[in-house]
Amino acid sequence: MKLRYPILIINFKTYIEATGKRALELAKAAEKVAKETGASIAVAPQHIDLRLVAENVEIPVLAQSADPEPPGAHTGHILLEAIKEAGAVGVIINHSEKRIRIDQAREIIERCRNLDLTVVACAAVPVEAGAIAVLGPEAVAIEPPELIGTGRAVSREKPEVVTNGVNMVRKVAPEVKVLCGAGVESGEDVKRALELGAEGVLVASAIVKAKNWEEKIRDMALPLVKR
Ligand code: G3P
Repeated sequence: MKLRYPILIINFKTYIEATGKRALELAKAAEKVAKETGASIAVAPQHIDLRLVAENVEIPVLAQSADPEPPGAHTGHILLEAIKEAGAVGVIINHSEKRIRIDQAREIIERCRNLDLTVVACAAVPVEAGAIAVLGPEAVAIEPPELIGTGRAVSREKPEVVTNGVNMVRKVAPEVKVLCGAGVESGEDVKRALELGAEGVLVASAIVKAKNWEEKIRDMALPLVKR
C-alpha cells in the first residue's frame, strides 16, 4: 500500500494518549474516517506499536524515524527491514524532534528505495526542504519547529514558509511531493495548506489530544476530498 495525495498524516509522537492499545484505537478512528470520506489518511505510531497497528488497519502506517545501519551488530538501532516486516509502508525521517545528519538521510533514502519503503523527509525551513528533496524522498514535509504543538498553524502563521518550500522543491526536484505541518488544528488550516500548494499535512497534538478523535479527524480530512 503506497501513499495517495493529498494526504493527512497523523503523527502519534510519544503521546501517552496514543500509546499501545490506544494507538490502535486512534488508528481505527482514522481508518473509519478514511473509508467513510475517501480521504487519504496515514498514521505514524511509535515503533513498538507498528505491528499492532499495521496488522489491524487498512490504511498506510509509517514509522516515526529510522536508523541507516544495515542488519547486524547495531544494538538499539531501528532497522529499516524490521519496520518493513512490521507492516509499515514507509518512514518519516529528520523530524525536528528526531534530527539526523544529511549523510544519514541519504543513506536511509537509498536503503528505502531498495526495500520499497516510502520516505517522508522533514525540513524546518524551505532551504532545507530543497536540500533534502534532491536526495529523492517521496515527500518533503516542512514544519517550522517554533509552531509545533502551539495550535498556531503554519498555513495561517507562516504561509510564506509553505509557498517558499513548495517553490524551492519544485525547482530542484519537481517529482517530490511537498507537505507541511506544525500547529495545524482545523479543517480550515488544512484547506489553507492545500491552497498554498502543499499536497498534504502532518498533524499530531490537535488530533491526539482531541476529546473526539473521529470528529477531529473528519474535520481535517474533508478538505482533502472537497476541492
Ligand atoms: O509531525 C507533525 C508535528 O510535528 C506537528 O505537530 O502537534 O503541531 O500538530 P503538531
